[in-house]
Amino acid sequence: MSEVDLIGELKSLEAEALQAVANAADEDALEHARVTYLGRSEGRISAILRGLGKLSPDERPAVGQEANRVKGVVGEAIELRSQALARPSAAFVEDLTLPSRGAWQGGLHPITQAIDEIWGIFRDLGFSRARGPEADTEWYNFEALNTPLDHPAADEQDTLYLVDSVLLRSHTSPVQARTMEAYEPPIRILAPGWVYRRDTYDATHTPAFMQIEGLVVDEGITFVDFKATLAEFARRYWGPGTQVRFRPSFFPFTEPSAEVDVKRVLTRPDGSQEETDWLEIMGAGMVDPAVLDNVGYDSERYTGFAFGMGPARIAKLKHGVDDLRTFFENDMRFLAQFAS
Ligand code: PHE
Repeated sequence: MSEVDLIGELKSLEAEALQAVANAADEDALEHARVTYLGRSEGRISAILRGLGKLSPDERPAVGQEANRVKGVVGEAIELRSQALARPSAAFVEDLTLPSRGAWQGGLHPITQAIDEIWGIFRDLGFSRARGPEADTEWYNFEALNTPLDHPAADEQDTLYLVDSVLLRSHTSPVQARTMEAYEPPIRILAPGWVYRRDTYDATHTPAFMQIEGLVVDEGITFVDFKATLAEFARRYWGPGTQVRFRPSFFPFTEPSAEVDVKRVLTRPDGSQEETDWLEIMGAGMVDPAVLDNVGYDSERYTGFAFGMGPARIAKLKHGVDDLRTFFENDMRFLAQFAS
């Protein structure tokens, strides 16, 4: 090959090599380009330098000079590309003056907050946490709780059955029976959890909702313990001025049974005070001896009380929310107001 041909070939190799270097997307591709053009044994530019000996002495210097120039240019391009690949991508460093995107501050759901606050009070009163399955049997949901299966609550109109005698628990009271079966008295438990009913989804009903069950069983537990414990809870939760009322009621698993109402005292921004209406917060009562017998406790020796409340309802009251559904629709504009 003549001097002119070789110089032409070196120029096109230079263009080709620079293109390959520019296209190298990572260190491996760049190394491949380096070996292809500058590699000592296989490299295409090195091959030309090695072939210089075949040229006539007066042709050699010009071709040699050009080959060395191309080698230098390509080597430098590889070095620059390698530095560029090691830097974080341009997009990251481009405009440091842009305002940052605010980070989301996580928060607890208002119903979770209500459960935590209620639990905190009962924990201070010496209660432990308990739990039971959401899918339970007719026995635990009804029969062990002295509720015959022909009771309206056990009807398919009200309760969501899964298969045969297995259902989605319609209240947290089955945790009473399960806990008493598993442990000997004294029992002092609080059991929050999901319950399910065949209800139409509206402002005051959701087919899945939270309940908090409470149970105390020991020797010598009286109606006084029952009333005092629940009144103490209400005053710790809503404030010392809270009035508590026990209204006679009926539940198959408690005798006597009561519905517990509270009347709160609200302080207006100007400092003046206002009493609310009576508001029902829970169902409760002294544990029916038949329930104690069903779980194998000696009902001559032990007595107790139980209660069940709805934390969603309590959260609704606390925050002045008038539609229960807003708690379940996951609209961040609504929920973020309660994040603390
Ligand atoms: N399980 C009852 C309900 O869901 C509430 C309750 C619990 C009543 C414990 C008395 C004792 O309505």
